[in-house]
Amino acid sequence: MAKHAELIARLPKAELHLHIEGSFEPEMMLALAERNRIDIPFKTLEDAKAAYAFSNLQEFLDLYYQGMNVLRTEQDFHDLTWAYLTRAEADNVRHVEMFYDPQAHTERGVAFGTVTDGILSALERGEKELGITSKLIMSFLRHLSEEDGFALLEDSKPWHEKFVGVGLDSSEVGHPPLKFERLFAECRKRGFKLCMHAGEEGPPEYVREALLDIGVDRIDHGNRSMEDPALIEILRDTQTPLTNCPLSNLSLCVIDDLRKSPVKKQLDEGLLVTVNSDDPAYFGGYIGKNYEEISVALDLGSDDLIQLARNSFTGSFLSESEKAAHLAEIDSALQHLRM
Ligand code: HPA
Ligand code: ZN
Repeated sequence: MAKHAELIARLPKAELHLHIEGSFEPEMMLALAERNRIDIPFKTLEDAKAAYAFSNLQEFLDLYYQGMNVLRTEQDFHDLTWAYLTRAEADNVRHVEMFYDPQAHTERGVAFGTVTDGILSALERGEKELGITSKLIMSFLRHLSEEDGFALLEDSKPWHEKFVGVGLDSSEVGHPPLKFERLFAECRKRGFKLCMHAGEEGPPEYVREALLDIGVDRIDHGNRSMEDPALIEILRDTQTPLTNCPLSNLSLCVIDDLRKSPVKKQLDEGLLVTVNSDDPAYFGGYIGKNYEEISVALDLGSDDLIQLARNSFTGSFLSESEKAAHLAEIDSALQHLRM
């Protein structure tokens, strides 16, 4: 058992960086391919898993978009989301802020409402049956145009009250935050929280743009911020949450060894870093495994792990009173552990 495994299991956590389509396990992919009578390149679990070896973000994205082609009906999206929630519950996740990629579905003819309603009904069920609260974040694909993003913003209007915010994901290099400056300004005006993937493969300048020009509320990944000491200072002063994803970083060769993860340095620098799973079906583990592996690789102390769990709620889009209640739950879980 990993060092601190019991502490990690018992700590209430929030997950702030999770793409629901990235939780599509190959077992379910094969089952839905059969249910929907769709041909897929994988015939066995072994075939699928053998393909999950990536040398960069794009190699992963190619497979990620191919995999989700099997998702067609509202029930498919409900089942996908429900499966994630049951896994999250096993890791003591109490709150999730979930990304999804509507353009990856509407582009292939699956209606926005089919996708969104399927996810939302599972999230409601998760709150009722598992006590896991959730918020949904609509992500724009950055390899598409800003105009495409505006079209999605318009088409999604009837659902706007269901989203806490918007995100920006997909191929980073060559698609800087400023490409979406007008779109994100409009989203801000409409009351959405703003998140952007930045500094995963892209340079520190992309994180600067996201933070200083766009004014995002949260940076997803943000690894390469650590190359820019002045930027580190800004991140500390503003306490902008960073959603790090250790096993994702390793799988996509953002780092070549988990011991090179920036998480410990970010904690020591006083940054609001959190640990998350990103695309757990593709990267070898859900949030608990991310905590466990980073704990061993970076020789984290219990104080570091407790700080990461606290940061996950502090960095969330929950209200101040909701955050306080979750932080109190952490304190009470620790008291039980020490008895
Ligand atoms: N980066 C960019 N786009 C993504 C990711 C990621 O880690 N996961 C799903 N879409
Ligand atoms: Zn991501």
